[in-house]
Amino acid sequence: MSFRKDSDSVELEDCIRNPGYRDADGGRKAADTPSPEPGQRRDSTAVEQGSEPASKEYQQVKPYAGMPKEVLLLYSSRARYRVPREILFWLSVCCTLALLAVTVTVIALSPRCLSWWQLSPVYQVYPRSFKDSDGDGVGDLKGITEKLGHFEHLNIKSVWISPFYRSPMKDFGYDVEDFRDVDPLFGTMKDFDVLLAEMHDKGLKLIMDFIPNHTSDRHRWFNLSRTRDPLYEDYYVWTDCNKTNPKPNNWVSIFGNSSWTYDDVRGQCYLHQFLKEQPDLNLRNPKVRQEIIDIIHFWLEKGVDGFRMDAVKHILEATHLRDEPQVDPNLPPELVTTEWDLYHDYTTSQVGLHDLLREFRAEMDTYSREPGKYRFMVTESYDYHEVEKTMMYYGTPLITESDFPFNFYLLDLPHNTSGWWAQHLVSLWMANMPRGKWPNWVVGNHDRSRIASSAGRIYVEAINMMLLTLPGTPTTYYGEEIGMENINITQSQIQDPAGKYNASASRDPERSPMQWSGDMNSGFNDKTNITWLPLHPDYETVNVEVQMKDEGSVLSQYKFLNHLRQSELPFQRGWFCYVLADANVFSYLRELDGHKQAYLMVINFGKQSATTDLSSIQELPDQLQVLMSTKPANDGKVFQKSSILTQPGEGLTIRYSTYTRFHQNHGAECYVSEKACYLDTIDILYKC
Ligand code: GLC
Ligand code: MG
Repeated sequence: MSFRKDSDSVELEDCIRNPGYRDADGGRKAADTPSPEPGQRRDSTAVEQGSEPASKEYQQVKPYAGMPKEVLLLYSSRARYRVPREILFWLSVCCTLALLAVTVTVIALSPRCLSWWQLSPVYQVYPRSFKDSDGDGVGDLKGITEKLGHFEHLNIKSVWISPFYRSPMKDFGYDVEDFRDVDPLFGTMKDFDVLLAEMHDKGLKLIMDFIPNHTSDRHRWFNLSRTRDPLYEDYYVWTDCNKTNPKPNNWVSIFGNSSWTYDDVRGQCYLHQFLKEQPDLNLRNPKVRQEIIDIIHFWLEKGVDGFRMDAVKHILEATHLRDEPQVDPNLPPELVTTEWDLYHDYTTSQVGLHDLLREFRAEMDTYSREPGKYRFMVTESYDYHEVEKTMMYYGTPLITESDFPFNFYLLDLPHNTSGWWAQHLVSLWMANMPRGKWPNWVVGNHDRSRIASSAGRIYVEAINMMLLTLPGTPTTYYGEEIGMENINITQSQIQDPAGKYNASASRDPERSPMQWSGDMNSGFNDKTNITWLPLHPDYETVNVEVQMKDEGSVLSQYKFLNHLRQSELPFQRGWFCYVLADANVFSYLRELDGHKQAYLMVINFGKQSATTDLSSIQELPDQLQVLMSTKPANDGKVFQKSSILTQPGEGLTIRYSTYTRFHQNHGAECYVSEKACYLDTIDILYKC
C-alpha cells in the first residue's frame, strides 16, 4: 500500500506504485515494478484478481511478503481481508450498542433492589437483659457477641441495641452522660469494636439507639450550662421560676408531674420531658445541633449501620412557654399531673422538628454512598390517634427523613382481639402511609407489655405469623421469638423509674432476662446467681434451647416464616390484599404478577373457632392446602375454600398456584410498595 502524489491530491494506491517503498532485497523501488494498464485503478485486491500466476504475483506484492494472515487481516486493503475486517468491525460496533441498549433497558425496567433494612426483620436487644457475660447480673456487649449465632439461626440480619452509652442509669441508658463512651456496666469501647466487627463479619447490621432530646444531668454540658459557662449557657431549656413553686407553666413530664425542676446552682428552672435527671437539650441552639451531628459522625465513622432516634416528637418546644390546653378544662390545674391530662400543643411535634431530623438524615446520607453501606434511620414517636403526625417522619417524595417511623399500632391488638380489630390496625398504617413508602410493624419493645401477656399466650404464634407475612419490615423484641411473657414484679422489686412513680406504669415486667436454656439463670448468667430482674418462672420450658429441638415451637415457626418471607418474592415485593375480616378471622393474601405461587393467610384472632367461607373469592382455587399452621397438626391439611377451619389463636399460611390475580379485580383492597412483575422463564423481576 502506498500514497501516490497525483497532481495536488494524495491518493491511496496499491503497493506496486509506491515510489518510496523499498522492498526486502534492498534497493529496488516499488515504483520500478510495472504499473497497471491506464484506467485500471488498482487496489491491493488487484494482487489477487490479477491473472499472473501466483508466484509472479507474489513477487509483485512484495510488501506483503512474509506477513502472517493476522497482520494482513488488520492492514491489508485487499477485499478478502478488508471485507471480513469491516464486517467484524461493524459487528462489534453493533454488539456493543446492543449490549448497551440491553443494559440500559434492564436497568430502566428493573425495580429498585431492596435494602438490608427491608429484607430482614429488626431485632431489638435490650442489653441489660440479653446475655450477661461477666456474672454481675446485668447483660453486656460481650454477652451480645457471644450470642450472635442466635441471629444467624433465625436469619435475622438487623439488630437494634438499646443504649449502652456511659450513663448513671436513672433511665437505664436513656440518660446519657457521655455519647462517645460505653458504660462500664456494658463493657468497653474495645468490646463494642469487637462486637461490631464480628457482626459485620457475619453479615449483620448494627442499629444504635440515639437520644437527641436529652442528656443525663451528669453530662458535662449540663454542668457547664448550670454554671453559665458562656459556651454552654443555652445548651438546655432554662427559664426563670419561683424556687418554692418551680412551675413556670403547666407542662408535665412523661413520667408524671411537672416537667420543670429548679436548679440551685443556676437559680433557674430547666425543662425535662422525661425524668428530672434527663434535662431536655435546646436544639434551637445551632451549637447543640452541631454537637448532635458530631456524635452521629463519630458512630458512623466507627461503622454503625443506622440509628433508632429516640423520643423525636419531644425534640423542640414552643419558646413562648404558654400553658398547654387541658383535656378536661374543668380539672383543677393542680391535678394536672400526667401526660394524658394535656393536649401537647407546645411540647411535641413543633414546627422545625422535621427540618432538624432531615438535617441529621442528610449527614447520614453522606455515609451511605459506598455500595452496601446504606445507613438506616428509624424514628420513635407515639402519636396515638394522630397517625398523620407519625407519617410525617417518612419525609416527602423528594426529601427522605426516616426510612420508616416505628409503627406501634399493632401494640393495641390486645385491646380487642378479633379479626376486625387486627384488620383495622393494619389498615390504619396502610391507608395513611405516603405512596411508595415502606411499611413496618412492631409487636413489642422495652416500653410496652409483652403481647403474649396482654393479648394472651394463645395468640403468640398467630401474632408472629402476621408480623412476618405483612408487607414491610417486622420488628421483634428479644424473647418474642420464643413467646416470652411479662414477669410479675413486687413493689420492692421495681427498678424502672416510671414504676417508682406509678407501679402500674413499670416497664420492668417486659425487661426480664432472656431465656436461653433451662440451666441456671436460664443461661442468661452462667457465672453467678444474680440477675438484675427476676427470671420468668416458665424459663425451664420456654427457652431457646428447648424450642430449637422442637419443630412446632414458637421459635421454629418464627424461623420458618422468616425464611419464607425472605426467600419468596410475593412476600418481599408482592401485593398485599385484604380478603376478609370478621369477629374471629383476619385473612389477607400476598401475590406477585407473573409469579405462579401466591400465599393466603387465615388468622384467627378471636375467641372462638371459626369456619371461614372464601367461596366468593373466584381468584382462589377450590382446594387450599395449608403450608404451615401455628398448630402443627394441621400442616399439610387440605381445605375446601368454602370451609376453612381455624381455632382461636391459629394462623394458617396457605400456598396456592394460580395466574389469576386478586388485585386485578380488587384494586381498592390491595397495596404494593413498588410495582414489580416476575418473568418466570428467565427468573427476573421487572417494573410493570
Ligand atoms: C423512649 C425510650 C424510653 C425512654 C424514653 C426517654 O421512649 O424508649 O425507654 O424512657 O425514650 O429517653
Ligand atoms: Mg425537647
